[in-house]
Amino acid sequence: MPKEPKEKHDHKTLKFPEGFLWGAATSSYQVEGNNVNADWWDWEQKHQPPHLRSGLACNQYNLYEKDFDLIKQLNHNAHRLSIEWSRIEPRDGEFDISEIEHYIKVLKYLKSLNIKVMLTLWHFTLPKWLSDKGGWENLRSPFYFERFVKRVIPEIAEYVDMFITINEPEVYVYEAYIAKEWPPQKTSFWGKIKVNLNLASAHKKAYKFLHQSYPSKPVGIANNIQSFEPYHKHSLIEQLAVILYDVGANHLFYLLTRGTHDFLGINYYFHVRFKDGKGALPEIAEASSQSRDISDLGWEVYPEGIFDVLTDLSDHLPIYITECGIASTNDDRRNRFLITYLHEVYRAIQAGINVKGFFYWSLLDNYEWHRGFDPRFGLIEVDYTNQERILRSSALVYTDIIQHNGIPHSLLRFIGHTIQASEVLEKRLKEELKKERN
Ligand code: BGC
Repeated sequence: MPKEPKEKHDHKTLKFPEGFLWGAATSSYQVEGNNVNADWWDWEQKHQPPHLRSGLACNQYNLYEKDFDLIKQLNHNAHRLSIEWSRIEPRDGEFDISEIEHYIKVLKYLKSLNIKVMLTLWHFTLPKWLSDKGGWENLRSPFYFERFVKRVIPEIAEYVDMFITINEPEVYVYEAYIAKEWPPQKTSFWGKIKVNLNLASAHKKAYKFLHQSYPSKPVGIANNIQSFEPYHKHSLIEQLAVILYDVGANHLFYLLTRGTHDFLGINYYFHVRFKDGKGALPEIAEASSQSRDISDLGWEVYPEGIFDVLTDLSDHLPIYITECGIASTNDDRRNRFLITYLHEVYRAIQAGINVKGFFYWSLLDNYEWHRGFDPRFGLIEVDYTNQERILRSSALVYTDIIQHNGIPHSLLRFIGHTIQASEVLEKRLKEELKKERN
């Protein structure tokens, strides 16, 4: 008798671990609006044309209930957000009680919706008074940060589940001290070193305090981790560039802060190929010139990279993907992004990496720093003319994944297809979602 043909593929949901955190991330300066005491605000008025200034941003300072209701509606079980140091301590050593009370209300509301709160304490902006004193170059900056943390956290800790002390130290150093696109737009070799060391020291001080005072609330940083690769696999010089960049950009800050992390927070956006150039050193091969799939910001869409960085970094600590997202005005691309990147996260978990949560960047369109409001990262679209929030279809795809605690078979159709084939599928998915909504 002929044997029953064995089923080659199972058609089940790709399940994530029980208790996996599903959410999205924002930062205070990018969504709140009117952060007039920050160094960024001051810099924008002096150096940026009006359309590139943050202004009212998404007015989340006033609309937070509306945004958090949407989070609940979308079934997120966690949310990452930050508090704005410059609001809470507008002058050196002077704390504004009404702003602390504001954040108590914000966090309390989130908790009342039964959402796990991951709170970032520093996300790129400084109080103006501190930047006037040299910002993170000032040797006392770690002390100022510690003073801020010790003053404000006891008031809000009961509404927080996990802490991120510092967001992307290396991105800050790069943008502010190398590319000079962000304040204080300086180039100074020693400046860079001082900023790195002071950020590391600030983290360590905050970690010590938080870890001792709130042992049940894990503390970490959110580090921008890039996936590096040689363009020509046989090129030794390109391999060497990969090693140097991987250590410098991905591992250095962890080495400086060794032993002060309860988890690793990973922000993943970049895949970089080094190409042996005309000069002595390899150069970065531009994704756009290689006809790679790129976002509206020219960043390569490369899901396999998240698998690479997860395996590269994994040690005994749990990992949270604290940011990962795409700037695109074409939401079909965001759908595909979510499914394919999460598929790689799933593969990493299957390979034994302890990934415990994923925070899509970003919950809603927001102020993308020196690039203003054009890049659209949101699951939720913001109409800046009237601050209206409009759910994108990707928000619903993400909800579908959350409700399954994994990637349902219906969405797996998108993996492994060419972009053109995916576009046909995306059209179909959109129609299905539309039907579901009606
Ligand atoms: C930052 C965010 C930023 C996002 C997209 C991350 O580097 O933490 O503030 O908006 O990338 O550029």
